[in-house]
Amino acid sequence: MSEIPSATKAATPEEILSAALKKVAAKDVVMACSFSVEDLVVIDYLRKLAPQISIFAIDTGRLHEETYAVAEALLQKYQLHIDWYLPQTLSLQQLERAKGLFSMRESLANRHECCHIRKVEPLNRALVGKAGWITGQRRAQSTTRNALQGIETDAAHGGILKINPLIDWSDEEVWSYARAQRLPVNRLHSQGYPSIGCAPCTRAIKAGEAPRAGRWWWENPEHKECGLHR
Ligand code: ADX
Ligand code: SF4
Repeated sequence: MSEIPSATKAATPEEILSAALKKVAAKDVVMACSFSVEDLVVIDYLRKLAPQISIFAIDTGRLHEETYAVAEALLQKYQLHIDWYLPQTLSLQQLERAKGLFSMRESLANRHECCHIRKVEPLNRALVGKAGWITGQRRAQSTTRNALQGIETDAAHGGILKINPLIDWSDEEVWSYARAQRLPVNRLHSQGYPSIGCAPCTRAIKAGEAPRAGRWWWENPEHKECGLHR
């Protein structure tokens, strides 16, 4: 992934979105929503700035009940439509028949296999024909994300734009915005989960641990990406 030279460093979400929408039409851009607090903030911005941008979510089949509750609450708050993408049935059936339901904990290769079937392949379908996609990623979330840019070219998806409006936001900025706008945040956030993915691969963190320490907690920090963000 390479940076597009632009004036988007340390820019606000409005500036990043507006710079991106000068390069690509809003109708060709989609927002990837995992229902994290960051994604709720981005969606709130999009409702005000570019409501024509559609929102998709990948239902891996292993999300927490609390995450589905956020999806419902969002629908009620904004009357929005979510384009859900699910894994291919045959791939999933083959995986579960051959390796069971918790193969992801047995090896890095197995974990990548599960992430590929449940997340990466559906993402590839969600991005077909698109010129750009928006995420809720922030630099402060992880060492794997400290080189992120507000607007990038996504070589893994044919060179389309990848837009990260909250790139420079701190935890405090995210939470104070979420509180001020009364966003329907995931209950798990207040139970020690700063970062929420799939249920078998996410646990609460202890005081002093890194925000993503509870994601794939059995793996080394440099492996803590699922392949959505290469
Ligand atoms: S992950 O790569 O470790 O799973 P993370 O949970 O931090 O990613 O989320 C980063 C961004 O990826 C989110 O803000 C969202 O834009 C996108 N994303 C992650 N999971 C999903 C999902 N299930 N459906 C849609 N987008 C997702
Ligand atoms: Fe599978 Fe875990 Fe990846 Fe979800 S996060 S797709 S359950 S390995």
